[in-house]
Amino acid sequence: METFTNTIQSPMQQPDQADHELKGNWNKHFFKNDNPIILELGCGKGEYSVSLAKFFPDKNFVGVDIKGARMWKGAKMAIEQGVNNVGFLRTSIEIIHKFFAPGEVQEIWLTFPDPQMKSTRKRLTATNFMEIYRNILAPDGIINLKTDSSFQYHYTLEMVKENELEIIANTDNLYQSDILNDVLSIQTFYEKQWRERGIDIKYLAFKLSHDKPLRESDVEIEKDPYRSFGRSARE
Ligand SMILES: C[S@@+](CC[C@H](N)C(=O)[O-])C[C@H]1O[C@@H](n2cnc3c(N)ncnc32)[C@H](O)[C@@H]1O
Repeated sequence: METFTNTIQSPMQQPDQADHELKGNWNKHFFKNDNPIILELGCGKGEYSVSLAKFFPDKNFVGVDIKGARMWKGAKMAIEQGVNNVGFLRTSIEIIHKFFAPGEVQEIWLTFPDPQMKSTRKRLTATNFMEIYRNILAPDGIINLKTDSSFQYHYTLEMVKENELEIIANTDNLYQSDILNDVLSIQTFYEKQWRERGIDIKYLAFKLSHDKPLRESDVEIEKDPYRSFGRSARE
């Protein structure tokens, strides 16, 4: 991946890690235009990032993941297909503020994140992650969650309600819903696997306001029964 011009690698997470030179400069030095920047966090093989970039040539996309072997596929696909408005960043989401400046990002996609049913703090839609996203997202920037997990969907919906965040779109069965469109029909590796097993896909989009501290909801969420075995083996 080191030879790819569309990929930045910074896999080691150091507590005192300096800000990356691209922080605040993605458009000037990487994309070389002034278009809005949208992130896919936990992009895996990068299918969503590359497809979104093709749908929206006037926007810039960055797929972020810690796993280089997966990301390699998306980065290679983008180069082969000449998709220049997408880049890839290999790092931990926990330190994303070392790579993007306040307000540099307009929108975030979370595609099929592991629901982390045992650990709230590791869950990519927990309030501690929302605080991380607030560091880089424009005020009222948008978070999109696409998931198979009923647990993750309901947990996130409760977090949104608890904090009175504005919901833009919401369905617990995307493919039977009238909000389905070409963009929401893009399917990642994980989405295909879950759909083959007959699991309904959920989608929630909301604005992440910056105006007050976020609170965790104390509503108990029912766990996904189908994830109790072997999920980690697939990771
Ligand atoms: C279940 S996979 C989904 C991948 C892809 N979005 C898809 O739908 O096929 C979750 C991905 O998130 C990445 N991930 C999870 N936590 C992360 C973190 N804290 N920092 C960076 N990547 C993370 C994993 O490496 C993995 O590729």
